[in-house]
Amino acid sequence: MNSTLLTTPLAEIDSPLLVIAVAAGSELPAALAPLDPATGGALGRAIASGDFKGKRDETLVAYGTGKARRVMLVGMGKGADITRNSVRRAAAVAAKRARALGTGRMAFAIAADARNGLGASDLAQVVVEGAAHGGWAFVEMKRPSDDLRGPLEGVDVVVDRAESGVAEAGRALGDAVAAGQILTRQLQMQPGNICTPTYLAEQAQVLAKRHGVGVTVLGPVELAQEGMGALLAVAQGSAQEPRFITLEYMNAGDAAPVVLIGKGITFDSGGISIKPALNMEEMKYDMSGAAAVLGTFEVLGRVRPKLNVVGLIPSTENLPSGTALKPGDVVKSHLGKTIEIVNTDAEGRLILCDALSYARRYRPAAVLDAATLTGAVVIALGAHASGAMGNDDALMGEVREAGERAGERCWALPLWEEYRDLVKSDIADVKNSGGRGAGSIAGGWFLREFVEGFPWVHLDIAGTAYTDSEAAHQGKGPTAVGVRLFTEFLLRRAAS
Ligand code: BES
Ligand code: MN
Ligand code: ZN
Repeated sequence: MNSTLLTTPLAEIDSPLLVIAVAAGSELPAALAPLDPATGGALGRAIASGDFKGKRDETLVAYGTGKARRVMLVGMGKGADITRNSVRRAAAVAAKRARALGTGRMAFAIAADARNGLGASDLAQVVVEGAAHGGWAFVEMKRPSDDLRGPLEGVDVVVDRAESGVAEAGRALGDAVAAGQILTRQLQMQPGNICTPTYLAEQAQVLAKRHGVGVTVLGPVELAQEGMGALLAVAQGSAQEPRFITLEYMNAGDAAPVVLIGKGITFDSGGISIKPALNMEEMKYDMSGAAAVLGTFEVLGRVRPKLNVVGLIPSTENLPSGTALKPGDVVKSHLGKTIEIVNTDAEGRLILCDALSYARRYRPAAVLDAATLTGAVVIALGAHASGAMGNDDALMGEVREAGERAGERCWALPLWEEYRDLVKSDIADVKNSGGRGAGSIAGGWFLREFVEGFPWVHLDIAGTAYTDSEAAHQGKGPTAVGVRLFTEFLLRRAAS
């Protein structure tokens, strides 16, 4: 999807669709006065009658005789509550409808009285992000037909001429984030027979080459030399070889890097502790953390902030077979701790723990991991927040703040000492599953056993990485969660 800035007055905008985002209210916003005549007063009557109230996600399409062939109002709720997230969402809602209408592009303006103090840069950024999000579609595996519609082609963000310089910075950032989100969702969507660990590594190499980023890929032989026994244990049941991908974006001399780790299970059957058949196909999304890390590197490659960032992606399938890992097995991790395997379906923590101890060699300023780790986090938080756990309150605050700005909320779950018992084993240093209670925290504590010497936050994105229901702002399927949060987090660090 492409984006431009428009400084044309609303009534002069020549577009298949002109969208105006408005706050809730009973009067026609001043911005609409010049447009209403071309719709024969339809906008004014829709508002005056109370049919259109401007509530969150509300839309109204009118067909006018002016330069804009269609005019759409999209509601953002009460003016005093409007944030970056409201505007991003409104752009996504409008883009989703625009795609359904088949308009191709949309021009998007925010009514002046609905800005609630937001700056032009923030506005342009989130409009482009939202338009890419709501206008996204995955059609490449269907036979082409007249009814088959691809993604929204572009968005033209309407701004005041006086603000266009500031807005351009936001537009360019939004464009980079949009490209990252698209890359992530594209990878998430690929089925397991295409998106194997080898495929993920190839995609990482292509991305790295495109942006002049360092990349290293380890296969089974190197993994054995490194002593990554936990990752290899998960991989041993599969005919597909595991990969361990390292990306290095170095643009700040010898400053300590931020390390981003993403869970790259390209299909999770559960292994010998096999999952039920219902919805098992969704487990192709078990590489969503990995996809978010790759999407973030796409953003870095485009924005080029002064930062050092390392991406680590352990990747394998989790399948049952005659050579598969079994419950009761004990394996040795990269850190040296032994792990009793209680449940082979708790495989994400096994591949992440080796990445966490591998990260020590970078002496990181901070480590963030994103992983579709537990079904329990879906029970606890549903689809509206990722579960966050860590060992450093300041870093947790920074991550939560980035999530808020990004519209990718996280909610902290405690890693109190008492919960550590969940991962104590009778036979080994730790066990990989804690039983029924506090499942997400058990996952967090397991990971923490492998964190030595750096501040760290783990994001459990099992409930946020994809959705099985349609919403006003996004369709079913992958969400690219993590890309925007990581980007906000990193850019704040570059600025400070
Ligand atoms: N990939 C799953 C977690 C998951 C569940 C992601 C639902 C997305 C939606 C993970 O590997 C897993 O199977 N976790 C187990 C852990 C348990 C065995 C301790 C789970 O949540 O049941
Ligand atoms: Mn599993
Ligand atoms: Zn999994």
